[in-house]
Parts: sequence; C-alpha cells; structure tokens
Amino acid sequence: MKKRIAVIPGDGIGPDIVREAVKVLDKVAKAYSHEFEYDYLLAGGCSIDEYGVPLTDETLDRAKKADSTLLGAVGGPKWDSLPGAMRPEKALLGLRSGLGLFCNLRPAILYKELADACPLRSDIVGDGLDVMVVRELTGGIYFGKKGRIDDGNEAYDVMSYSKGEIDRIARKAFEIARRRRGKVTSVDKANVLETSRLWRETVKAVSEDYPDVELSNLYVDNASMQLVRNPAQFDVIVTENMFGDILSDEASMITGSIGMLPSASLRTDSYGMYEPIHGSAPDIAGQDVANPIATILSAAMMLRYSFSMAREADAVEKAVASALSDGLRTKDIASEGGAWIGTSAMGDEIARRIV
Ligand code: IPM
Ligand code: MG
Repeated sequence: MKKRIAVIPGDGIGPDIVREAVKVLDKVAKAYSHEFEYDYLLAGGCSIDEYGVPLTDETLDRAKKADSTLLGAVGGPKWDSLPGAMRPEKALLGLRSGLGLFCNLRPAILYKELADACPLRSDIVGDGLDVMVVRELTGGIYFGKKGRIDDGNEAYDVMSYSKGEIDRIARKAFEIARRRRGKVTSVDKANVLETSRLWRETVKAVSEDYPDVELSNLYVDNASMQLVRNPAQFDVIVTENMFGDILSDEASMITGSIGMLPSASLRTDSYGMYEPIHGSAPDIAGQDVANPIATILSAAMMLRYSFSMAREADAVEKAVASALSDGLRTKDIASEGGAWIGTSAMGDEIARRIV
C-alpha cells in the first residue's frame, strides 16, 4: 500500500523522537512491502520563527492532503511570553480543529517490564493497568468564546457543547469499549455544570444502542480520586476536552511510563493525527537522550487506525516489548544507576526487531 504521511517534528525533542518513528516506519515499509511518503512540515515554535505564526494555512492544507499526520511536540520557553493566539500550542489546537479531529485516544498502560516505575503500591495496581481515556478534542471551553472585559480586569472562557458533539464522541467510546472489556465510565461535573447535564443525558441515550457495554457515571473530582485509589476499575473513560486533558495526564503518570504513551486523534473517516502524550522537553533537546518509544507507538497506532495495517502495528508493538524485555532502556526509564542507550540507538534496536 502507498500512503502519504504529513510529518510535523515541532520543537524541543520533537525532531529527535520523530526521526526514530520514521526509521521504524521505513523498516515496516520494507518488511511488509508498503510505500510511505513523508511531507515534512513546520508547526509550533519553529513555525513562529520561520513564518511568524504557529500554524500557516499552507501547513494545515498539506496536512489535510495527507493520509494521516505524525507529530512530535510543540512549545518551549523561547515562546512562552508570547500572547495567547501566538503561542506554539495554538498550532496543536489549530490542527485538531482544522482537521476535525474530535476524538482523542490516550491509552494508559503499565508495561510489566517497567512495573517498578509505577508510583502506586503493587497491591493497588494489581495485575497491571490498561485504561483508555477517550477525550473530546474540538469542543468545550478550549474552543469557546474567550476574552477580557472591564479594561482587562475580568476574563471569561465560555464552555458549550452540542448534543451532536457529545453523541459522536460517546459512540466512539462505546465502540472502543466493545473491543476491550466492555465498560465505559463517563466523567462530568453534572452536579454543577449545565454542559455536563447535557453530556450525561446524551451519553445515556447513546448507551441504549450498546446494551452489551456497561455504562457508569462519575463526577470529575471523584474520578481523579478513583484513578489513584483503584485504577483497575476503569476500562474506557470518556470525557469532555478539559477534564480529559487533566485526567489523561493523571492516568499516564500512574503508569510511570509517560515517555512511553502514544495518542491518536481521530474523526469519523480513517484520517488521524498521532503524537506522544509527553511534551517537547526543551532541556534535553538534541542530546540523543529522549525516549522515542511514545512516538514509535504513536506510529503503530497510525498503522492500526488510519491504514488498517493490524499486522504491521502488532509487529511494531512487539518490537518495543522485545527491546524492553531485553533490558534496553533510555535514560528516563533506566533504573537508578542502570545502563541506558540513546534515542537513536533505541530507534535502531526497535527497527531491527521488526520482522
Ligand atoms: C495536551 C496538551 C495540550 C492540551 C496543550 C499543549 C494545548 O496539554 O495535548 O494534552 O491542553 O490539549
Ligand atoms: Mg495535556
């Protein structure tokens, strides 16, 4: 199969880790007789430096024309003092909304090889963790009207959701749960927010089309507590944009593997944008120490969700697992004083294991 991939390395360690994911994709292409063509694009801080804006229309257009997008990370202290609309993060938000990627999948998995890195007690974690956070990505307070009044002394951000927006993300969550352990937990703040009351009603109505999936509801404050109290109770968590932002960081941290976790942003067709959950870590950029695994696993998600290449995705995930069980570690996941290898060597080791 021939596929065109928009590649957006971004800032900080973005280029370091994306290089390794492309290395792995090239190996997949070779081993399974595919052809991947890459269109390299700038977004984030590097785009501000080059074009004066975080995301140009042309970049968005070229990303739209590809079959999917692979992104590293954006942002860094260099651009931190810029006004809201000019910040590198605007590129991410512009790509998400411009590409219509309303469904963000953030798996939080505890790798048994890295069980020691999990900050929770082993009796709390039990047999391991495998939670899928399904975050609504193009609505809510992130995209509502925002501004200042009263000479800048009062600020507002409007949170709104339509039934249609809630319905489509809920359906995604139920579909995913059906292929997993059949449980959806919908997280809201329906005791306070009207958007949450509509959310709860709509999710309940959607659940009637999925009688084989069990639905429960939690308030977001309780959900954040339950995630550390008994994370194994969760299968799929579905929630609105900002709650999903916060809970997905919490879920990834309790696995102890934030450098390992990929994400996919999807819509109703096969197009997707794939990126690691972690940020641009400017302090270690260009030093060959970043962990490329989250980005490599994001590329695997691309193979699975956008290109329907399940065998190839399995091969990448197996190669990662095999590198880990052979004891290979990057600095962030090495045990205290233990040996580790660089970004590029980890990419080589994983690519080499793809057969
Ligand atoms: C994320 C990030 C972004 C978000 C920022 C960088 C805009 O935190 O992808 O979770 O809040 O969505
Ligand atoms: Mg976040």
